[in-house]
Amino acid sequence: MQLSSKKKLNNGVMIPGLGFGVYQISREETGRAVGWAFEAGYRHIDTARFYDNEKEVGQAVRKSGLKREEIFVTTKLWNSDARAGRQKEAFAESLKDLNIEYIDLYLIHWPVENFISTWKILEEIYTAGLVRAIGVSNFQIHHLEILLAAAKVAPATNQIESHPYLTQKELREYCAAKEILCEAWSPLGGGRSLVLEEEILARLAGKYAKSPAQIVLRWDLQRGIIPLPKSAKRERIISNSQLYDFELSREEMAAIDDLNKNKRVGPDPDNFAF
Ligand code: A2P
Repeated sequence: MQLSSKKKLNNGVMIPGLGFGVYQISREETGRAVGWAFEAGYRHIDTARFYDNEKEVGQAVRKSGLKREEIFVTTKLWNSDARAGRQKEAFAESLKDLNIEYIDLYLIHWPVENFISTWKILEEIYTAGLVRAIGVSNFQIHHLEILLAAAKVAPATNQIESHPYLTQKELREYCAAKEILCEAWSPLGGGRSLVLEEEILARLAGKYAKSPAQIVLRWDLQRGIIPLPKSAKRERIISNSQLYDFELSREEMAAIDDLNKNKRVGPDPDNFAF
């Protein structure tokens, strides 16, 4: 496993196993941060219509000097566009603002009420060849069961909140059985939680001469979930990608699993009002 390693989606498309998230990175900072991420070796950027920085992500992709096919870009359909029946328009707006020829992965951002009709439209977009893969985000098992019963194209990914306080064992096992790849948003617990202060992480960080954040991200790689860490700081962007020169033992993996409290730092997909 190395920074350039990829995983295969259920339609054969390859996705880099570590992504760089840009939620809450301001438009002013996004171009610089994504540029640093490319310099550090990330090739997978995760944005969304809602983050309001697609233009800046696209500019950074074009400025990188990398070939388009070397980079993997995800964006997401926002809830208000889904509710308003603006799915196709919103997709076209994302494509125009990114201005990078094509989008690799397009996701339903949250399971809003009409997600079945929205999924049908994502299937049309996919079948027309406008995007390389489609998936969902923040879907629980019961949402996925409804979706899979109606879908012609199975979602390639489910991007969920996951970190040591919310390991998502059941949902990840369900997704694995259905060949849906899981990605983790807020893999570090969102910065303000106490995840990174946990003693076991300090102990493992000492043992491997790594930071607690690197221990958590390595745990993600070894449990088979794609982490999407975000930072606006160059040093952290770099260190969050340096995960490939050590390996956690089975017991150490289990000790981090044991930190689970089913505790969210973000909204609950079964009870959100936006
Ligand atoms: P900053 O942008 O100041 O680096 P998550 O990805 O779990 O949502 O966490 C993101 C938050 O964690 C951001 O506020 C980010 O702040 C901070 N962060 C990112 N990388 C690290 C790190 N290696 N160590 C500590 N905090 C980090």
